[in-house]
Amino acid sequence: MTHYLFILGRNPNLSILEIVAYCRRKKINYNVLDHNEDIALLNLQGFDEHQAIKDLGGTLKIGRPLDEKMIYRGTKNKIVYAINYYKADPSQVDRKIKTLLNKEELKATRRHGKSRNIMPSQARTLDLEFLAYRDKIFMTTAVSNPKEYKQRDANRPAYDPLKVISIRLAKILINLAEPQQEIFDLFCGYGTILQEALLMGFIAMGLDKESQYAKKNMEWLEKQYPKVKGKWQVFQGDATDLRQFKTFETVVTEPYLGPFYRGYPSKQEAEKIAKELESLYKRTLIELAKKVTGKIVIIIPELKTREKENIKIEFSTILKRAGFYPVSPYQKIKIPIAYFDKKDKINRYIYVLEKRK
Ligand SMILES: C[S@@+](CC[C@H](N)C(=O)[O-])C[C@H]1O[C@@H](n2cnc3c(N)ncnc32)[C@H](O)[C@@H]1O
Repeated sequence: MTHYLFILGRNPNLSILEIVAYCRRKKINYNVLDHNEDIALLNLQGFDEHQAIKDLGGTLKIGRPLDEKMIYRGTKNKIVYAINYYKADPSQVDRKIKTLLNKEELKATRRHGKSRNIMPSQARTLDLEFLAYRDKIFMTTAVSNPKEYKQRDANRPAYDPLKVISIRLAKILINLAEPQQEIFDLFCGYGTILQEALLMGFIAMGLDKESQYAKKNMEWLEKQYPKVKGKWQVFQGDATDLRQFKTFETVVTEPYLGPFYRGYPSKQEAEKIAKELESLYKRTLIELAKKVTGKIVIIIPELKTREKENIKIEFSTILKRAGFYPVSPYQKIKIPIAYFDKKDKINRYIYVLEKRK
């Protein structure tokens, strides 16, 4: 087993759950040793961090323990490096790293100063990056590629930044569902979840009242990534009527979250929207209960109002009625997980559900 240090994205609880769910699905032998707002430390066997960094939406970097016998394995003799500190003592860490670099007779230039949490786009330009965590030093061995995500997101033929979820969140939701082979998104919109599911090697099936956007984007994705050979299909239809489908293995979806407001709705308007959404979610889950075999991962909104009073969706009643219950891949972190961003017009809660036996 090897220790791996994960540098987490902006929602650490979600990132940790995603890592655990990913290990479970990949049958990686895992042991969570520690975690906090910035990092998770796991002991893993059979883990490939170069693959994982492409699959995990909530992890920014992955590091392995520093091998003091040989820290630089490249061919340059002038290198650029940086250090990130997580609950570590900078002076001790700096001294140790300097000594090791001198021993290898490297002309090393340091970037990004002290105590900085270096972003992936910057980390990708370095020859060496150290991650100091408490009294241990790790070296970054895999960094996520935000530029690729940005291009994939914004360059697709159908795109509206206000209406799609981020590529990172789409990946997180897919991993939380621990799919075997297939992902179904009942409100697939522009197809973000379908695109990521296909790239991660799953069969990607989608449904939407307006299916044309996802279709267009999936066709575009196939051309952009000719090596990706998975199966996908997008259906036109209503999520509350699933008669045309036999079964679903795994459902991952960001459903309709209410009408789009320039500002915020009034409390009265929000209460009305909440009632409509409750009815939509209830009918959809009752339909799904007849057909789904695996997990459901779903985003449920909380509506912000002009009066600054948030309106919740009565989701636990719906769950009981439809016969689902929340499940967490990691008992220390409970479902639902809040996913809030001050910039967003709504708050989101992420549920992982299983059917009552
Ligand atoms: C929040 S968007 C999903 C966006 C998607 N996650 C993405 O990244 O592109 C919700 C979608 O639900 C669709 N929709 C609304 N009511 C529906 C229903 N009853 N059945 C199926 N789709 C519906 C809308 O057309 C919209 O595309």
